[in-house]
Amino acid sequence: MSKPLDGIKIIDFTHVQAGPACTQMLAWFGADVIKVERPGAGDVTRNQLRDIPNVDALYFTMLNSNKRSLTLDTKKPEGKEVLEKLIRESDVMVENFGPGALDRMGFTWERIKELNPKMIVASVKGFSEGHHYGDLKVYENVAQCAGGAASTTGFWDGPPTVSAAALGDSNTGMHLAIGILTALISRDKTGKGQKVAVSMQDSVLNLCRVKLRDQQRLERMGFLEEYPQYPHGTFGEAVPRGGNAGGGGQPGWVLKCKGWETDPNAYIYFTVQDHAWEPICRALGKPEWIEHPDYATPKARQPHIFEIFKTIEAWLADKTKFEAVDVLRTFDIPCSPVLSMKELANDPSLRASGTIVEVPHKQRGSYLTVGSPIKFSDLKPEIKSSPLLGEHTDEVLADLGYTPQQIATLHEVRAV
Ligand code: COA
Repeated sequence: MSKPLDGIKIIDFTHVQAGPACTQMLAWFGADVIKVERPGAGDVTRNQLRDIPNVDALYFTMLNSNKRSLTLDTKKPEGKEVLEKLIRESDVMVENFGPGALDRMGFTWERIKELNPKMIVASVKGFSEGHHYGDLKVYENVAQCAGGAASTTGFWDGPPTVSAAALGDSNTGMHLAIGILTALISRDKTGKGQKVAVSMQDSVLNLCRVKLRDQQRLERMGFLEEYPQYPHGTFGEAVPRGGNAGGGGQPGWVLKCKGWETDPNAYIYFTVQDHAWEPICRALGKPEWIEHPDYATPKARQPHIFEIFKTIEAWLADKTKFEAVDVLRTFDIPCSPVLSMKELANDPSLRASGTIVEVPHKQRGSYLTVGSPIKFSDLKPEIKSSPLLGEHTDEVLADLGYTPQQIATLHEVRAV
């Protein structure tokens, strides 16, 4: 079956997570993604946090499926020559080296344009070009701190907290994928390639949009009515950490269910949606709250919100998180069990939808990964294994027109 990105050739000069997450997704959708890796070493994640000795780590296999691997030392003249050939034949180059590394290698935007005016060069950096921190190297948690996520996550009496979700890495990769696809559509119209740049700070901030909303509301009004600090606590000059409060107009909290004393994930998230107030009261066996002036409106409820949550927890005390959600769903109340990674890994719905997939691997046997979170009516991405280091070197060189004899001499370039 043909795929939407069939025929799009991508030089994948990415490593760690931000760049690989982007190119992996484009590979799922049909692009020919050639991962260029340093001979002998490859992407650093091949070795990081290994669970099986001498076998590619899950960190690598889960971010590099459906790609081909070409080992090439692009700092040596012969390696540069191969890369130049590849640039002439490709549509996109994606990179997330530290600032200036591609230029130092001799592949400036000007040079790449000279080699292939239709080329799209897509980059991830920690900070945007011209930013006063533009020379910094950046990893996930650095970006979460720089982009506003850490200062607004966690509890008010604790330190800034990073999220387990890869807001700096994979999220930036997803932004970059949108940029690349947009540049490809633009190229269809203009015939020209272009540079696409996404910074990790900007991508985190884009997801923290509602916190910038809150900053402006705080400066105007001096309080934020949906935060736990209102109305009994105090506000400072900047948006505070709100614990598990709902970020929009619907108050919510993580609530204990049966077994919370021993199971760290025996909780549900419960949302007090305004128009669901009546069903909530009925579900809780508190019909007297429906019309009561202290509870009938969101404004009246806010001063009592933790008392309301306590009442809900009392109701939850004899129900597991799954039993609780099964009751609450019949009242149309927005809620979810807090699911552990173990539960997600074995979730039959996620297996059936292809969101959790088991992928065969030459060295590992098989491994679990997250498949495409984007579902199409006319495309079912098939998640294949990540490549071994240099697995496709000869094949890619042959595609570029190298003869077997030339490939044999290029082995020097591939040596450590
Ligand atoms: N052949 C020869 N050299 C190669 C090569 C190849 N195939 N692939 C990479 N290199 C070289 C680069 O040219 C560069 O050399 P130089 O610094 O001498 O010019 C070096 O390897 C890579 O450097 P860098 O990317 O800075 O690696 P690092 O391990 O020091 O830093 C990061 C890692 C992730 C911090 C850094 O790459 C970075 O800040 N990237 C941008 C933001 C980002 O994506 N962060 C990670 C998100 S998961």
